[in-house]
Amino acid sequence: MPPVFDAVVIGAGAAGLFCAGIAGQRGLTVLLLDHSPKVAEKVRISGGGRCNFTNRDAGPAHFLSENPRFARSALARYSAADFIALVQRHRIPFHEKHKGQLFCDDSSQQVIDLLLRECDAGGVVRRQPCAVGEVRPSDRGFEVDTAAGPVRAAQVVVATGGLPVPAIGATDFGLRLARRFGHAVVEPRPALVPLTFDAAAWAPFAGLAGVALPVHIRAGDRPAPTFDEDLLFTHRGLSGPGVLQASSHWRAGQPLDIDLLAGRPLADELLADKAAGARRQLGNRLAQVLPQRLAEQWLAAHDLEAHKPVAELRDRDIARLAEGLRRWQPRPSGTEGWKKAEVMAGGVDTRELSSQSLESRRVPGLHFIGEVVDVTGWLGGYNFQWAWASAAACGRALRTYSVAGL
Ligand code: FDA
Repeated sequence: MPPVFDAVVIGAGAAGLFCAGIAGQRGLTVLLLDHSPKVAEKVRISGGGRCNFTNRDAGPAHFLSENPRFARSALARYSAADFIALVQRHRIPFHEKHKGQLFCDDSSQQVIDLLLRECDAGGVVRRQPCAVGEVRPSDRGFEVDTAAGPVRAAQVVVATGGLPVPAIGATDFGLRLARRFGHAVVEPRPALVPLTFDAAAWAPFAGLAGVALPVHIRAGDRPAPTFDEDLLFTHRGLSGPGVLQASSHWRAGQPLDIDLLAGRPLADELLADKAAGARRQLGNRLAQVLPQRLAEQWLAAHDLEAHKPVAELRDRDIARLAEGLRRWQPRPSGTEGWKKAEVMAGGVDTRELSSQSLESRRVPGLHFIGEVVDVTGWLGGYNFQWAWASAAACGRALRTYSVAGL
């Protein structure tokens, strides 16, 4: 007879580890499987090695989904404050960096250790590296083929994450399994990802690689939010936190909407300088507002004389300069793809999942949690908060089955 568990969790990343620990501590027998030699590789590399493990202000407005209300229940029942309390119980020192983003002071390994201790406290059986094969419905549960032999379980939790960074173990296992069981999948696309441009279109800007500045940026159809973050020029296009945020809303063919002045009233300032008879050259004046290389490149590309004193500018040139910077609408040709994306937008369609338990409405006992689900967070700790919240909702809802009854 194959071994029998109350639940098999497939994928020992952020969501799978957290869910397994919660269910184990409730007294369920849990088997946690991962095909990678190491658990939680994305936690390890996250936040530049310090894991931005949540965001103090995380709420439903910080997530994208075809079904925007779906995440509300899980996020409300397991909040950022709950995970912060857990981090404090494990005595992990942390700090707030920017806009509610919480990072470990020392290393993301501390979050992995927290997750493993929670699993140990729940008596979770872990197997990795252990390839997972077919998942078949059986009389009162499921049979799962694994490299270590078949197992049986009353419930299966799919926590195999999204498609970004295949080099550290990302696969489409969860999406394929969902489709095989009749679930719709919202077309996956790279998100929180640098945007690229045709080489010819980008040639005038390629020399600006490394230049960064604060901007207001928006992409996608309204009511997509405007982000107030930094933009970074790269050799192939645009990156930086503002562009990563906007990329999640961007669709192929659309232009970006960028205010390179970040709200600064440049036209008013230049008109006031002109009225005061300012002899300062336009190039030098603009370099007070923008990084110097960008200021020089912009004036050259727009036929404006960098050496002209501000007092001699025509009002219409001032207006043209300020308006051009305020409404820059470059049109990306693509993204840097799965290699560079931080997260997957799209995934298992939530309209056939319970928002209370993350259980399939089609296949009782089958659950999907974490990034494999069509819920995508903004940059800034929101994706881990979704991993914790969806894992908690599922881990608390899994049922103890009489093993003998299977
Ligand atoms: P996760 O990817 O963590 O785990 C999935 C697990 O399933 C992996 O262990 C994988 O090996 C396993 N698996 C996959 N296919 C399998 C198969 N066929 N069989 C068996 N096992 C399989 N978010 C955030 O909030 N703050 C941050 O600081 C960062 N930083 C960051 C940096 C980088 C570079 C990336 C790529 C991503 C981030 N993220 C982030 C996003 C965050 O890492 C991500 O959203 C969560 O890890 C998702 O958790 P999951 O458990 O759903 O998937």
